[in-house]
Amino acid sequence: MVAPMDEMTDIATMSPDTAPEAPKRPAHNLPTETVTQVRHYTDRLFSFRTTRPRSLRFRSGEFVMIGLVGDNGRPILRAYSIASPAWDEELEFYSIKVQDGPLTSKLQHIQPGDEIILKPKPVGTLVHDALLPGKRLWFFATGTGFAPYASLLREPQTWEDYDEVIITHTCRDVAELTYGRELVEALPDDPLIGEMVAGKLRYYPTTTREESPKMGRITTLIESGELFADLGIPPLDPKSDRAMVCGSLAFNLDMKAILEGAGLREGANSEPAEFVIEKAFVG
Ligand SMILES: Cc1cc2nc3c(=O)[nH]c(=O)nc-3n(C[C@H](O)[C@H](O)[C@H](O)COP(=O)(O)OP(=O)(O)OC[C@H]3O[C@@H](n4cnc5c(N)ncnc54)[C@H](O)[C@@H]3O)c2cc1C
Ligand SMILES: NC(=O)c1ccc[n+]([C@@H]2O[C@H](COP(=O)([O-])OP(=O)(O)OC[C@H]3O[C@@H](n4cnc5c(N)ncnc54)[C@H](OP(=O)(O)O)[C@@H]3O)[C@@H](O)[C@H]2O)c1
Repeated sequence: MVAPMDEMTDIATMSPDTAPEAPKRPAHNLPTETVTQVRHYTDRLFSFRTTRPRSLRFRSGEFVMIGLVGDNGRPILRAYSIASPAWDEELEFYSIKVQDGPLTSKLQHIQPGDEIILKPKPVGTLVHDALLPGKRLWFFATGTGFAPYASLLREPQTWEDYDEVIITHTCRDVAELTYGRELVEALPDDPLIGEMVAGKLRYYPTTTREESPKMGRITTLIESGELFADLGIPPLDPKSDRAMVCGSLAFNLDMKAILEGAGLREGANSEPAEFVIEKAFVG
C-alpha cells in the first residue's frame, strides 16, 4: 500500500527545519578525554576515571574544569578536584549526583568509552606548596571534599614531608564514606607508597545522621577534645600541625575559626602558612 502524499517523505523538497538531523557536532573546540571506568556508590555519589592528556601536568590536590555538551549544544563546565595523584597515567574524579544539576544530572550516566570535556588548566590551594613545613598533616573533609585528599593520600610527598597524616571524613550516612574508606584501606598495599604509609596514617571517619562507630560533626569533636583523646595526641599546635580543609562553605568557615583559634594561619600558593582551605562546592 502506498502512503498518502502528506505522509510521504521527499528529501529533495524538505525545508532545513524538517530535514533529517545531521550528526550533531559539538559547538565547542574544547579538549575531550575518554571515560575508562565508572563506579557508583550511592544514589548521590560515583567515581570515574578518564584518559589523561599527555600535556597535563598538575600538583596533587589541584582541580580542573570538566563538563559535557548540554542539550543546546553548549558546554556545561564545572570545577572538579582531580582525585588521582600527579603520577597516575589516568585521571580520577569523585562526584556528587545532583538530580536537577545542569552537569551531574547528565554526568551520572556516563559509561566507559564516552567523552567528557576537560580543560587542562589545573589550579587550587590544597597543595603542599601552600603549607610551611610541619610534623603532622591533617586532611579535614566532608562529603565529596574527600576528592583532593584521594589525590594527596597517594602522593609520595605527603609521606616524605610529614611524620603523621590524619584524614577525617564526615558524611551523613555510612555508605557515603565508602569511596574514602576503600581508598584509605588500600594505601598500605600500594606498590609506590605502601611502605611510606606504614605507622604514619590515621583515618577518622564520622557520620552525623546514621549510626556508626564514631558519630558527630568533626568540628564538635575537635571542640570537645574527643578527637584528640580518641587519637591519643595533643591538640592543634601551630608549631607542628598543618591542615587542609575541604567541604561546604559552612564547614570551611567553622574549621577556619577553629584553626585560627588554635593559632594556625591561612596560607596560599603565594604565601605558605599553616592551613589551606577550598570549597567542595558552591552554594
Ligand atoms: C573548587 C571546586 C572543586 C570541586 N570539586 C568537586 C569534586 O571533586 N566533586 C564534586 O562532586 N563536585 C565538585 N565541585 C562542585 C562541582 O563544581 C559542581 O557544582 C557539581 O558537579 C554539581 O554540578 P551541577 O551542574 O550538577 O549542579 P550545580 O548547579 O553546580 O550545583 C547545584 C547545587 O548542588 C549542590 N552541590 C553541588 N556540588 C556538590 C557537591 N560536590 N556535594 C554536595 N552538594 C553539591 C549545591 O547545593 C549546589 O548549589 C567542586 C566545586 C568547586 C568550586
Ligand atoms: N547527603 C544526603 O543524603 C543528601 C540527600 C539529599 C540532599 N542533600 C543535599 O545536598 C547538599 C549537600 O549535602 P551533603 O551531605 O553532601 O553535604 P553537607 O550538607 O555539607 O553535609 C556533609 C557532612 O558535613 C557535615 N557538616 C555540614 N555542615 C557542617 C559544619 N558547618 N561543620 C561541621 N560539619 C558539617 C554534615 O553534618 P550534619 O548532618 O550535622 O549537617 C554531614 O555529615 C545539601 O544541600 C543537602 O540538603 C543531601
